[in-house]
Amino acid sequence: CLLVPESHRFDCYPERRVVVTQELCESRGCCFIQSPPPAEGKQGVPWCFYPPDFPSYTLESLNQTALGMVGVLVRREKAYYPRDIQKLRLDVEFETDTRLHIKITDAANPRYEVPLDVPQVMKRAENPIYSLNFSWDPFGVLLQRKATGTVLLNTTVAPLIFADQFLQISTSLPSKFLYGLGEHRDRFLHSLDWNTLTLWARDVPPTESFNLYGAHPFYLLMEEDGNAHGVFLLNSNAMEVVLQPAPGLTWRTIGGVLDFYIFLGPDPNMVIQQYQQVIGFPAMPPIWALGFHLCRWGYGSSNETWQTVRAMRNYQIPQDAQWNDIDYMDGYRDFTLDSQKFTSLPSLVEDLHKHGQHYVMILVFPLLSHYALGPSWSFLALGIFVEGQAAVWPGFTAFPDFSNPDTHQWWLENLQHFYSHVPFDGLWIDMNEPSNFMDGSEHGCPPGELDSPPYTPAVLGDSLSAKTVCASAEQKVSVHYNLHNLYGLMETKATASALVKIRGKRPFIISRSTFPSQGRYSGHWLGDNRSQWKDMYYSIPGVLSFSLFGIPLVGADICGFSGSTSEELCTRWTQLGAFYPFARNHNTQKEKAQDPTAFSPAARTAMKDVLLTRYSLLPFLYTLFHRAHLQGDTVARPLFFEFPGDVATWELDRQFLWGRSLLVTPVLEPGVDSVTGYVPRGMWYDFYTVRSIAAFGRGLGDLCFILWVGSPAPLEHLNLHIREGSILPTQKPGTTTEVTRGNPLRLIVALSSDATAWGDLFWDDGESLDTFEKGNYSYVMFNVTQVGCGGEGRSGGSMVPGHLELILIFGVQKPPSKVLLNGQEKPFSYLDNQVWPHFRVPFAGWGSPS
Ligand code: NOJ
Repeated sequence: CLLVPESHRFDCYPERRVVVTQELCESRGCCFIQSPPPAEGKQGVPWCFYPPDFPSYTLESLNQTALGMVGVLVRREKAYYPRDIQKLRLDVEFETDTRLHIKITDAANPRYEVPLDVPQVMKRAENPIYSLNFSWDPFGVLLQRKATGTVLLNTTVAPLIFADQFLQISTSLPSKFLYGLGEHRDRFLHSLDWNTLTLWARDVPPTESFNLYGAHPFYLLMEEDGNAHGVFLLNSNAMEVVLQPAPGLTWRTIGGVLDFYIFLGPDPNMVIQQYQQVIGFPAMPPIWALGFHLCRWGYGSSNETWQTVRAMRNYQIPQDAQWNDIDYMDGYRDFTLDSQKFTSLPSLVEDLHKHGQHYVMILVFPLLSHYALGPSWSFLALGIFVEGQAAVWPGFTAFPDFSNPDTHQWWLENLQHFYSHVPFDGLWIDMNEPSNFMDGSEHGCPPGELDSPPYTPAVLGDSLSAKTVCASAEQKVSVHYNLHNLYGLMETKATASALVKIRGKRPFIISRSTFPSQGRYSGHWLGDNRSQWKDMYYSIPGVLSFSLFGIPLVGADICGFSGSTSEELCTRWTQLGAFYPFARNHNTQKEKAQDPTAFSPAARTAMKDVLLTRYSLLPFLYTLFHRAHLQGDTVARPLFFEFPGDVATWELDRQFLWGRSLLVTPVLEPGVDSVTGYVPRGMWYDFYTVRSIAAFGRGLGDLCFILWVGSPAPLEHLNLHIREGSILPTQKPGTTTEVTRGNPLRLIVALSSDATAWGDLFWDDGESLDTFEKGNYSYVMFNVTQVGCGGEGRSGGSMVPGHLELILIFGVQKPPSKVLLNGQEKPFSYLDNQVWPHFRVPFAGWGSPS
């Protein structure tokens, strides 16, 4: 026991409610060494840990198959959890050269598996960039990157345990740079200092170390040399992931099977693309989803809601969507309308539509039991609800069982019925963890091993039913114990298909609870944050984590949900929020209004300006979403995705990029008028002044970067920088995406030091279904080389963008003698009073400028 270094102690007694004594520990056959207690709120080195010879499984046989290998694992000595499965089946599929699939399950009996469509490969990868070996006794997986020899996984570091309700596998990690594993409030880069991350969907205001609304058992890891890989455990049971300084990681889940996908990148962008090849690429949002959204809980009436919309219009502040929270409902019941206070809602929606704006409303759960009214009632008899009674806003509530296809039909009919009164454009599905104001039900939960499993992961409230449904509740596909983490995803699928049937257009949904593959159907917001500077900062790691999870349409409540915001905080937050892929200002009831019109002229103007900047960048942002939909590129992007060789970027989570080329450096503190940021290698142009800052370096380990200290950031200013070598399609902004789309295009060309640049533009009608798949779009690639610049496009149907009125070229060092467009001389202006001069070419019509 003494030979095991502290950092390598893998916990043999993770139960939290037990004080682990030597006796208890040794009864499990483990080593006991007491360490000093950790600081409050921290975990420490385990006192009870596995000895190197703790009994595990032995690999008894391994045979080649068409796609990989199949093996048998046998455990001779029982471990300490009930119903150890003594014979396991190991399936390995070399799915692609960069993707490996390893599954371990009961060899004799089928077990619950996550009902997710995953790709079925037909052919074994021919030239995998990884090599896989096994340790036979004890069984272990050894995975290496061929090119570098880096060991990505070595599961012999601790025993494999596979009991019916306790499955555990540990591995060493090749570095400490690990990201992902949501949903949590944490820095983007997780600490490996004895950090347990629990995955069990839960309604709770985001708090450090709590399990939150969604479950994403996926991590991305940067290897020391700048390569990256990712690991996805396809398992929906309550689980925890323990990170320790070895560096090492333990997956501990209480059901299902061990179904791993490993993605070899080799760069972080590729890892995320490869992950999404398995879980599905995100949906293309309607373009209006990328406009500014306004919501609050506590608009007293539809007239009050309308007042806000009018005030926004009056000040000409961009707004694409007005939302309503549960206030619009009668007694907080879905599919009902408060006939006193929200009588004018249909007229408000009509007015929004007339102004090219949209209406989004919340859905929670239908009220059933003794208050039941309306179309929900007749379906009670169909058994489409999760059994048991619980309480949410309306009082006693039943939870629709979205794993049952009949529920989807019921959901559709209710939505259709409501739509005939209030023609909503999008839906906000809330409380779908599912949240319950009681633990389990009025009467708690029945005794048994589902509600009281032999081991409960470190969930908030110490019980699986804490503020949710009983784990033993029966659903069509399985018990809630298995399906809990999928509730939000299943509701989203039902909602997306209903929206398509009702509106015949791209659905817009924002869901609070999420699971892998969610991005195919919806976006997400980060839940009930507070109006605090700290919460504003945490939104950046939150947004970036959801970029990794394949849900690019993500944002946090701008200005904060609970508590009172201040003018300064709200202004800074609107500047940051204008660069959330999904930008919505929302706050709770009984707080002051915090929409832009509620503030002083100076703050209001600063908010308006930054929203107009967002709208001017819509063609660029929309194109990024196209690339996400097409191949899983990230929209809000961590800096290290673009500079994986620059270790200094690996920890950054106070700045981010849009795509590869727009650097956002928000102010995240009160009372300052400058901001400190990191400028990766290369040349960056100030978005507004065209002044450039240059940071030249030669790559990994080269510290030739500049930390730019004190870049001016007065309250009305957000620091935005464009990366050299990029071309951003923009538009003169209007106050809605519809108006903006009608305006001419402008290109911003940020020349690199060798005078090259490229960029692209995806364009379609902004709302029809499957425009890319059906070919109803234009795609243009812009290129600047030293001999000139040009565009090259592919298009289908009649989707051509409006005319291009201006090209702005940054970094032209000498005034050009002439500018030719399709061989014809064109007027231009050259502005040499900038640090990096640029010139403007007014441009009409499409063609290839030279
Ligand atoms: C909880 C949601 O997270 C919040 O955004 C919403 O305002 C309240 N529910 C009321 O519906």
